[in-house]
Amino acid sequence: MEKIKDTWNASLYDTKHSFVSMYGESLFQLLAPQKGQKILDLGCGTGDLTKQLSDLGTEMTGVDQSEQMIKQAINKYPQIRFIVHDARELEFREEFDAVFSNAALHWIKQPKQALDSIYHSLKKGGRFVAEFGGKGNVEGLYKEIIKQIEAAGIHFKTEQFPWFFPSIAEYSTLMEEAGFRVTFAQHFDRPTPLNGESGIRNWIEMFGSSMLEGVPDAKKDGIIKGVENNLKSDLYIDDRWIVDYKRIRVIGIKE
Ligand code: BEZ
Repeated sequence: MEKIKDTWNASLYDTKHSFVSMYGESLFQLLAPQKGQKILDLGCGTGDLTKQLSDLGTEMTGVDQSEQMIKQAINKYPQIRFIVHDARELEFREEFDAVFSNAALHWIKQPKQALDSIYHSLKKGGRFVAEFGGKGNVEGLYKEIIKQIEAAGIHFKTEQFPWFFPSIAEYSTLMEEAGFRVTFAQHFDRPTPLNGESGIRNWIEMFGSSMLEGVPDAKKDGIIKGVENNLKSDLYIDDRWIVDYKRIRVIGIKE
């Protein structure tokens, strides 16, 4: 399987994008973790949510495909098991009471493989609880990035689009095909404020860098400035950027 490139900057993720974990905390209610349960945090990043779940008395394993992220997670929380692994090829078999995943699965453009992997990792009766970008997520922003790339005379290839943002109908069907009983599915708006005037620039550099692959360095700054200028009237409100996040949340049971 094609390897996913590790372009993550773990320190920047912790300092400038800590909102990712902050929003994830509200997903704990759906997970309803119980003391002693074995839980896999899939796409754990630098491990902040894994640690919070571990503090509730669960036995946690954090997995991320980024070596940079896992290195930082181990540095911060050496007592927790963290493993570098591709979510599409997990080797766990009937090991976990729950698989939890926050803000990660939109990075996996082969959802069937990831869902099969998750299914096999769960014990019978185990639950899969996830939140990630759904249909229409950050659409205003990514369409403007593509527009600016094309305006700079560079063709944007569809394969370069880094994300999978499904509707709940599409994702529930995939979950059912993998063997889950879908007991919950929700699609909602979550306008997300970014820190400071450089919020959009920082976001593009952290999350959207692969969209700019193949763009000569000399043109990148102009593209980002173009995005900022064109989005300012809609997305810069009371001195901060607010991005049009749309999330899906799902729960599936392995029967
Ligand atoms: C998200 O959490 O929805 C997201 C984050 C970065 C890039 C795209 C989507």
